[in-house]
Amino acid sequence: MTKVTRRRFMATSAASVAAAAAGGAGAETRKPKAAAGGAPPGRAFPAGFTWGAATAAYQVEGAWDADGKGPSVWDVFTRRGGTVWRDQTGDVACDHYHRYREDVALMKEIGLQAYRFSVSWPRVLPDGAGATNPRGLEFYDRLIDELLKAGIEPWLTVFHWDYPLALQRRGGWRNRDSAEWFADYAGLLSTRFSDRVGHWMTQNEPQVFIGMGHLSGQFAPGEKLAFADYLLAAHHQLLAHGRAVQAIRANAKKPVRVGYAPASDSYVPASDSPADVEAARRATFRVPRDYWHNAWWIDPVVLGRYPEEGVKLYGADMPAFPASDLAVMRQPLDFLGLNVYNGRTVKAAANADGWEIVPESLGSPLTANDWGVSPGAIYWAPRLFHQRYDLPIAITENGVCCRDWVSLDGQVHDPQRIDFTTRYLREVHRATADGTPVLAYFHWSLLDNFEWTQGFKDRFGMVFVDFTTLKRTPKDSARWYGKVVATNGASLFV
Ligand code: GAL
Repeated sequence: MTKVTRRRFMATSAASVAAAAAGGAGAETRKPKAAAGGAPPGRAFPAGFTWGAATAAYQVEGAWDADGKGPSVWDVFTRRGGTVWRDQTGDVACDHYHRYREDVALMKEIGLQAYRFSVSWPRVLPDGAGATNPRGLEFYDRLIDELLKAGIEPWLTVFHWDYPLALQRRGGWRNRDSAEWFADYAGLLSTRFSDRVGHWMTQNEPQVFIGMGHLSGQFAPGEKLAFADYLLAAHHQLLAHGRAVQAIRANAKKPVRVGYAPASDSYVPASDSPADVEAARRATFRVPRDYWHNAWWIDPVVLGRYPEEGVKLYGADMPAFPASDLAVMRQPLDFLGLNVYNGRTVKAAANADGWEIVPESLGSPLTANDWGVSPGAIYWAPRLFHQRYDLPIAITENGVCCRDWVSLDGQVHDPQRIDFTTRYLREVHRATADGTPVLAYFHWSLLDNFEWTQGFKDRFGMVFVDFTTLKRTPKDSARWYGKVVATNGASLFV
């Protein structure tokens, strides 16, 4: 099987890591608006900052056909053969469906304030639309109640890629009805859970489930559509987001805060000169004929329009749609979630784009899945996205893949995860201190889990999972993170 990695950048310049360790590359001349309240003096994070960890249903729940759950596109894709490392599946994964109590107890032991999880659409609506599955809904009732009992705030992602197979057979995201199916599903969740869940995210990383799912075909449902059909699927996904925000709010039992969680394709300016910062901004919001970029997925949702550059570039491939669609896509949001793992260093250039990539230095650090290490990404992405979209930012995912195992002393020592996360969190702090309103940080992930096409090879958890016995062992990083949470980030600086 050919190795499939998501197009995260494979490496970054060692200089950017060193600059971040030394306290960052400085700031552009124009400061962004001050955050409400700002960062307090000293090195703690702003009061009210939320510290959590994240997972996604297909990656942790297992119980793939238990208690009336319907199949998802991932249940089928993993069985195709040759799609996932060693042909592994998420059939059992971490068996979180049956072990959620133990997992919530672990979260409490670590000291998490919040837990970001997703609902499996076909677990609660086996055919994606129509009849609900009471036992599926009851699982999330139990999970939410257990979290609240432990004093942990649930942050609910409506959709993290496990699309109902029954709807895929009806055309999936290519079918315009998909926006209504998604709105009905989101409305069902809001009706049921909004009495207890205050934070909602509609969709995780459209770049991946639309782009990799429908253009490159590397992820479920594994489609390689013509560009125009892929754009149509993306249009329906954006429409679905807007309709879901409406449905969540319309059915909310209590005030809710609603966001969106795209991947951030991040760029770090090579220096603090205004020209390099402008280069990073242009790179961040460019729209190539591809899916790994930002503005296409966020401009319609926040600004109510497709980026002009993309409309021109895509030309005849653009879908035809009523202008009212853009108004539906653009719903008021309370925060913009960003999943930030790494970024590329760029500088100003005298070419048509106005920017170019700075080549990676020899020997620049790489994670176990060959992604680069660039803490500056988590300073610049929130800053640039906030400047463009004027929304508070939540880091909905950040973390690192390491080759962890249980040592002879029975513990799991993961110094690289601690080092990586320290570097990134110091940059989040610097962002807040410079006035970017970052509200929350969710570490990816709570548990080692089913890492999509990498199966159980890639471990991202703060808690080690033995996938044979399903035994959980908190890693050193779990205890370390507990201290970070308990000190509201101050321990990062001692
Ligand atoms: C994100 C994704 C997560 C997880 C993580 C680490 O793109 O949302 O589900 O897989 O990457 O690879």
